[in-house]
Amino acid sequence: MAKLTVQDLDVRGKRVFLRVDYNVPMEEKEGKMVINDVTRIVETLPTLKLLIEKGGKLILTAHLGRPKGKREPSMSLAPVAVKLGELLGKPVAFATDCIGEVAEAAVAALQDGEVLLLENVRYYNEEEANDPAFAEKLAKVADVYVNDAFGAAHRAHASTAGVAAIVAARGGKCAAGLLMDRELKFLGDELENPARPFVVILGGAKVSDKIKVIDRLLEKADTILIGGAMAYTFKLANGVKTGKSLVEPDQTATALSAEAKAKKLGVNFQLPTDTIIATPVDTGKLNKKGKPVYDLVNVRTISGDIPDDAEGFSIGEETAKHYAQIISSAKTVLWNGPMGMFEDPRFAGGTNAVALAVVEATQNNGAVSIIGGGDSVKAINKAKLGDKVTFMSTGGGASLEFLEGTELPGVAALSDK
Ligand code: 3PG
Repeated sequence: MAKLTVQDLDVRGKRVFLRVDYNVPMEEKEGKMVINDVTRIVETLPTLKLLIEKGGKLILTAHLGRPKGKREPSMSLAPVAVKLGELLGKPVAFATDCIGEVAEAAVAALQDGEVLLLENVRYYNEEEANDPAFAEKLAKVADVYVNDAFGAAHRAHASTAGVAAIVAARGGKCAAGLLMDRELKFLGDELENPARPFVVILGGAKVSDKIKVIDRLLEKADTILIGGAMAYTFKLANGVKTGKSLVEPDQTATALSAEAKAKKLGVNFQLPTDTIIATPVDTGKLNKKGKPVYDLVNVRTISGDIPDDAEGFSIGEETAKHYAQIISSAKTVLWNGPMGMFEDPRFAGGTNAVALAVVEATQNNGAVSIIGGGDSVKAINKAKLGDKVTFMSTGGGASLEFLEGTELPGVAALSDK
C-alpha cells in the first residue's frame, strides 16, 4: 500500500523528527574533514524546503560512518550542518548530542520553519541495536516522524524504525519524505509494470551479491545484460578458463540455474563475448590497508579463455557495442553495477559505453532509465552524465535489498495513506 508522504502532513508548529541519510564521503584535508560528494544532502533539500514552508520545526537525525558507539571526531556531522546551511540558504543549528539535555534544549529553541541537525546517532551503540529506551529518548522531541533516508531504510535501527513505532503508538503520523517517495516510485512502482522492452544491466564483483536481484528481475525483464567481474563466474560455470580473475567457484551452480531460468522464461540473457584482461605483477609494496599492490601490465582484449597469468577487468569493445545496441531500443532500463574496473581509464571504456547508451535511450527513445545506486551512480557521475538519466538512487545496500523484493524496515515503519 502507498505510504503517507510529507505532502499529506500538516506540520505547522510541530516538531518534525526527520531521518536523513547524510552518510556522505569525507576526507581529511589540512586537519579538517571535507565532504567529497554532497549528492545525498542536495537530494533532501526539496523535503526540507517543503517542511520549512509548512512551518514545521525540523529536527534532522543522521548517521555518518560506523563509529560503533564511540564519539569518533572524524565522524562528526558538524561539517554537514555547515554545508547544509550553505545549500539550503538558511542557518542550520547543530546539537553536539542526539539525545538528552543538549538535544532537548536545541529543539526547545527552534521556531517554526527552523532547522536543527543532531550529532551522529551512531555515537550510541543503542542506535544500531534499536534499543527501545534509546528510541524513547530520541522520540522525546518528536511530534511527527518523517523518513527521507532511503539509503538507510534497510537498517532496523532506532532512528529508522524504533522512533517511528513510538510516534505511531502515540497516534502521531509517520511519513515518507519526497526523496524516499521518489526512490520507492522508481525502484518499485516503475519496475512493477515497466514499459517494454525492459532491459536490465547488471554488473559488479559477485554473483552472490546479485543473485536474488537476478532471480527476481528474470520474472520481469525482457533482456538481462551481465558485466563486471560477476561475468567470470558465469564463464567458469560454462567451462571457460578464467585465469586469475575474481570468481566464486561455489556460485557456478547458481549461475547455471539463473541461465536455465532465463531460457525457460524466454528472457534474452547475455554474457560478455570479449574481455579486457591484464597481467598482474606484484610490486612488493603494500597499500594503506596492508594489501599487496599489483601493476597491471600487458592490457589486451580476448574472447574465449583467459590465460592463466591474466585477470579480466572489463567487458570488451565488441560486448560494449552489442550491449549498447540492445539498450538503445529499450523503453525501461535498470542499471546496477559497473561493467568493469571503471576507476582505471584502461578499463573504463565498457562502463562508459553502457552509460552513454543508457543516456541515448533516455534522450532519444523516451526510455525511463533508473540507476540502481552504488558504483553505477559513481560511474555515471564520473562520466558527467548524471543529469541525463531519469533517476539515480541514493541507496547502495538499500537499493539492492529493495530490488530483491525485501520489505525495508524503514519503509515498513511508515504510515499507510
Ligand atoms: C549507506 O551508505 O549505504 C547507508 O548510509 C547505510 O550505511 P551503513 O551500511 O553503514 O548502514
